[in-house]
Amino acid sequence: MNSPRDEINHLISGFWKTQAIYVVVRLGIPDLLAAGPQTAEQLASESDSHPRSLYRLMRALASSGVFSEDSEHRFALTPLSECLRSDSADSMAALAWMRGDWQYRAWGNLLHNVQTGETAFDQVFGESLFEFLRRDPENAAIFDQGMVGVHGRETEAMVRSFDFSSIHVLADIGGGNGSVLAALLTHYPMLKAILLDRSDVIDRAKINLAHAGVAERVQFFVGDFFESVPAGADAYLLRHVIHDWNDKQSRTILRNCRDAMPNDGRLLLAEFVLPDGPEPFRGKWFDLAMMTVTGGQERTGSEYCTLLNDCGFTVQRVVPTATELSLIDALKN
Ligand SMILES: C[S@@+](CC[C@H](N)C(=O)[O-])C[C@H]1O[C@@H](n2cnc3c(N)ncnc32)[C@H](O)[C@@H]1O
Repeated sequence: MNSPRDEINHLISGFWKTQAIYVVVRLGIPDLLAAGPQTAEQLASESDSHPRSLYRLMRALASSGVFSEDSEHRFALTPLSECLRSDSADSMAALAWMRGDWQYRAWGNLLHNVQTGETAFDQVFGESLFEFLRRDPENAAIFDQGMVGVHGRETEAMVRSFDFSSIHVLADIGGGNGSVLAALLTHYPMLKAILLDRSDVIDRAKINLAHAGVAERVQFFVGDFFESVPAGADAYLLRHVIHDWNDKQSRTILRNCRDAMPNDGRLLLAEFVLPDGPEPFRGKWFDLAMMTVTGGQERTGSEYCTLLNDCGFTVQRVVPTATELSLIDALKN
């Protein structure tokens, strides 16, 4: 058991590891090590970096189990760094990239955010996250992959916990690169889908869903959910979309979904539903991430009920999953 001083020291120094992992991912080190162990000199020549500095970085990460180091100072992948290979299943490389890059810069402005209520990202970058991603194709692609890194494990849990079999056409609004639809359409062979997202995201989703062999059951829409949402589905799913936005913006999105729905339409929000009490819950940290990066928020169950009531929905039930994710199942009034 660490002393309180040790424990707080560990928490205070968390950014060391964020940056160290970010740098090895940016240099492509986990991919270089896929062929087998290498010295820092060899890795430096392949990654165009400074050998001694890279050695010190690798040595520190090896001391935390991210790599291993042998007696001849050759570094190798461990189960942790296997997850950082760009070609690994459910790679965490993109998540390490976005946490260490623009999210790190935004969090550097957390003090200003807390003092003023202004979103840290907007203050640092002079524009909102989604405006930034629209102008920056490399970071936009990293963001899509990063969503799979951060939320990917929730997909299987969601498919297992909720019965989608009564749904004929499911609209995934802000569905990102299509990984949720790929899982659902594979699990439910009769299901058809609509996917709405921004233009560059839809281009990537088409490739991913074709790769999953389900693209012919998907209608793709490029659009803006603040303007409108496509009609034609009996259920509308929004996973980790409403948490990106404040209540006013969320009401616009939800009312656009309601307008698009048939009278017996169903709304499914997949979100981290915060507990009312002080118990530990990872979603409380995501709430801070939303505050800092998008200006959105995670919400409690009663906050979701109020928001949905305001927009003409009645919550039927909140279905937990084996992860922190819950599905809020609501009907159009
Ligand atoms: C946090 S991501 C969630 C992605 C996906 N639903 C998931 O669970 O992995 C939010 C998504 O909303 C999309 N988005 C943001 N603003 C949008 C807008 N105005 N209209 C349509 N989609 C938008 C983003 O491109 C992104 O794919």
